[in-house]
Amino acid sequence: MPVLRLIRERFAAEQPLRGVKLLACAHVTTETANLVRALQAGGAETVLIASNPLSTQDDVAASLVSDWGVPVYAIKGETTETYNRHVRTALDFQPEVIIDDGSDVVATLIKERAAQISQIIGSTEETTTGIVRLRAMEAAGVLTFPSMAVNNAQTKHFFDNRYGTGQSTLDGIIRATNILLAGRTLVVLGYGWCGKGVAMRARGMGSNVVVTEIDPIKAVEAVMDGFRVMPVAEAAAVGDIFVTVTGNRHVIDAQHFASMKDGAIVCNSGHFDLELNLLGLRDMSDPPATLRPFVEEYRLRSTGHRIIVLGEGRLINLAAAEGHPASVMDMSFANQALSVEYLVKKRGELKPGVHVLPQEVDTEIASLKLRALGIGIDALTAEQVEYLSSWETGT
Ligand SMILES: NC(=O)c1ccc[n+]([C@@H]2O[C@H](COP(=O)([O-])OP(=O)(O)OC[C@H]3O[C@@H](n4cnc5c(N)ncnc54)[C@H](O)[C@@H]3O)[C@@H](O)[C@H]2O)c1
Repeated sequence: MPVLRLIRERFAAEQPLRGVKLLACAHVTTETANLVRALQAGGAETVLIASNPLSTQDDVAASLVSDWGVPVYAIKGETTETYNRHVRTALDFQPEVIIDDGSDVVATLIKERAAQISQIIGSTEETTTGIVRLRAMEAAGVLTFPSMAVNNAQTKHFFDNRYGTGQSTLDGIIRATNILLAGRTLVVLGYGWCGKGVAMRARGMGSNVVVTEIDPIKAVEAVMDGFRVMPVAEAAAVGDIFVTVTGNRHVIDAQHFASMKDGAIVCNSGHFDLELNLLGLRDMSDPPATLRPFVEEYRLRSTGHRIIVLGEGRLINLAAAEGHPASVMDMSFANQALSVEYLVKKRGELKPGVHVLPQEVDTEIASLKLRALGIGIDALTAEQVEYLSSWETGT
């Protein structure tokens, strides 16, 4: 993670976060460990919790505690109760800055810890779903501190959501099932940044990709990218593998499970485990059988068809694989580290609500990434600068 390493080295020298109490809620992976090391090098006192019950790498959590002295509250496979207890335990640490992923910490703070809000300098948010929630908090007038929408940086969602989710989602499906993707019909539900990545990479593996959408513009985009587009009710009957990446609820509902082929594989790579209506599936099936880790088989009582659910409907790329590779998280977490620094530097100056990092920071992260990749690009000549800022020259 060369970009994050450069930031860590500068943080170590400049100490921009000296004495700041920081709560980080993220997938506890090796990449997150590097982010925490950068924050620690900058002088922050950091506590780390998991942003998903199934995404923790236990060896990473243990190493952060024993090798780096970071308190970590996370264990792979923790129950929802334990997950929520960890959120509250970390809030007891009286943080001033929150790094959130999905907005569970900020939502808990607002709902349960009103007395703590005045000490919050600000928060950062890693993912699309968290930003949807922050916007709803803003609209309801309950977001009373600044929050940096890290996801909205171009060097985050163009790469992490698209290429990271595209690759790691297929990695999760393959590690869980060892299925051959070639020749299979793979249905991608949602053609946003993540959906585009999953569709693109599945096509590369030889799958026949079908897309479902609710947004006409995204649907036209999918058609012109060469994918078949149809409503989920039709796609349910033709798909061999289904991947939800919408950030929306019950995108695959009970009636869709009812019309699936025998042996259909269903998983989710959106933030929360509510994209598949698993309670509905449970009601219409015999008790599920675990075939292998992260693979459960439900047999429908109506048709006898078997529906294979991966990773309990939680983010499959983190449940059954390791999440995004380090080289893409390098840019996402460079944005996180610089957003925390920005909040601390601008303490008391930013209005409450959702903010994005200045464009120059985004461009600088991309420049550093190119440098790390050993790739040079051109700069505008003086003549080109003048041409682009003038209007006289035309036909
Ligand atoms: N697995 C990961 O590691 C990872 C990484 C980044 C983001 N995410 C999460 O993935 C989800 C998608 O993120 P994104 O950045 O692609 O968001 P996005 O807003 O770019 O795309 C979501 C798409 O889903 C579509 N959609 C909404 N409801 C739908 C429905 N009922 N049927 C079909 N399509 C529907 C929307 O129109 C939109 O095009 C979010 O929950 C986000 O937090 C996961």
